[in-house]
Amino acid sequence: MPRVIFLKDGKSPQEVEGRIGESILALAWRLDLGIDGDCEGAMACSTCHVILKDRDFDRLYPPSEEEDSLLDLVPGACATSRLGCQIILTADDDGITLQLPKTTQSLL
Ligand code: FES
Repeated sequence: MPRVIFLKDGKSPQEVEGRIGESILALAWRLDLGIDGDCEGAMACSTCHVILKDRDFDRLYPPSEEEDSLLDLVPGACATSRLGCQIILTADDDGITLQLPKTTQSLL
């Protein structure tokens, strides 16, 4: 099971066990880790925005054009931003580290 580390400003890092085939959004919901996901993974809201470490961003499969287009609209997005609903965990993702933004804003 891939370990996933969630970083949130002002809080200790939280290391949890994800399931292969599970999205970061589903993991966050299962363990109540503070990601909203207003559109439930339909790639419409951006409230599942997460920021990856460079090494993790580079090792993941790249975002789709649709995801990239939505990320262009996300306040506070950066070069290593992704949508948590679009990251599906694999065995290779053990140790993936995700920074949760201070705030998210629904684009719905
Ligand atoms: S849950 Fe809405 S874009 Fe990911």
